[in-house]
Amino acid sequence: MTGPPASFVVNPGIRISGEIRMPGDKSISHRAVMLGAIAQGVTEVSGFLDGADCLATLAAFRAMGVQIDCPAPHRLVIHGVGLHGLKAPTAALDLGNSGTAMRLLAGLLCGQQFDSALVGDHSLMRRPMDRVGAPLRRMGARIRTRDGRPPIEITGRRTLQGVAHELDVPSAQVKSAILLAALYALGRTSVIEPAQTRDHTERMLVAFGVPVLRDGATISIRGPATLQGCHIDVPGDFSSAAFFIVAGIIAGRAPLVIRGVGVNPTRTGLLEILRLMGADIRLLELGESGGEPVADFEIRRGSLRGIAVPRELVASAIDEFPVLFAAAAIAEGETIVTGAAELRVKESDRIAVMADGLGRLGVRVEVLADGMRILGGPVGGGVVESRGDHRVAMAFAVLAARAASPVVIRDVHYVSTSFPGFAGTARDAGLQLEEEG
Ligand code: S3P
Repeated sequence: MTGPPASFVVNPGIRISGEIRMPGDKSISHRAVMLGAIAQGVTEVSGFLDGADCLATLAAFRAMGVQIDCPAPHRLVIHGVGLHGLKAPTAALDLGNSGTAMRLLAGLLCGQQFDSALVGDHSLMRRPMDRVGAPLRRMGARIRTRDGRPPIEITGRRTLQGVAHELDVPSAQVKSAILLAALYALGRTSVIEPAQTRDHTERMLVAFGVPVLRDGATISIRGPATLQGCHIDVPGDFSSAAFFIVAGIIAGRAPLVIRGVGVNPTRTGLLEILRLMGADIRLLELGESGGEPVADFEIRRGSLRGIAVPRELVASAIDEFPVLFAAAAIAEGETIVTGAAELRVKESDRIAVMADGLGRLGVRVEVLADGMRILGGPVGGGVVESRGDHRVAMAFAVLAARAASPVVIRDVHYVSTSFPGFAGTARDAGLQLEEEG
């Protein structure tokens, strides 16, 4: 086969077992490049995720004059240029499929002495950007979008002022964009979260020597700040492990062990949801890596029952709903997800796209404005469209293990944005998955 695969073909089977490792965390890898680039001195990164999204961030900083060496697989040496050392890029920065790269960079670029523009692929060009534009303008930034969507155009040479900003939607990307702009702003900036979102930016800023204060739902930093290069050891991505956690529960033949996974509590809402559904998930060997908690998982097959997913768990499971919908299709009874309208503005409209695919496999679903109702039962074979959404493609690959006949998942090349070796790891774990060009 040449070029990236167009489809996965998955044969059903209860065969998941063994021991696997996950690629590096996507959110943490992005942040390591960004903070390392504007720090003083060298930052060494190990466990870096070389998926397309993080490589887009890396290319963006190289285009702004930062030397980043890759001495070995998953290792980076970033020669930080300091808070004001970035150079004007000669063209718009293309961030591919990555909302995280675009939104965080928007915040960071507002503090520069040069103008810049941000673009992306077809999916990213449709995603909402005024959620970062509005708070950054309040800080004094000049930032333009096209009807609230990319391209983003940023005028440099502005004096930014610290503000207190209450987020409209719980979003770590928006929070992080504001905190990155705050590094360049005068005085104190505070972000108030309606629900706690992933706190990787806060943790990593501390690792780079920037004091971060958390008081209840308010996170504050003082600018201008100086970052000192450091070592970041990126843990395995919980959001990638999520596919195998569910695979082990619904199609395990023997225990599945997943090693070295980040278990930051702002990310692991899926574990609580699956346990409420009756799953047996054990965490072994808790440790720490790069200021983040890490664990090995042991997963056993078990039956799941449908539940009403508590709304307070939605933010900490936000990337896991595609695979949770897959788990719900196998569960006994009805699962209801509400309070998750954010799923409509991810890499695809994950409510519509998952409902469409589940429906094609014969699963009974009802689409809600902010979620979905799924009646668990037999899953048939067939052809589903992932609409270029990496997590949708991987969720259907997992569900296919329990289908009555083979499932073809189309448009899967975007899987490499977050999980470059997914097909190989899936086969190692016992999934009968073939790639087709
Ligand atoms: C991310 C935040 C989340 C998540 C995304 C990564 C991050 O997005 O869905 O995959 O790294 O900050 P939102 O901030 O839009 O919720």
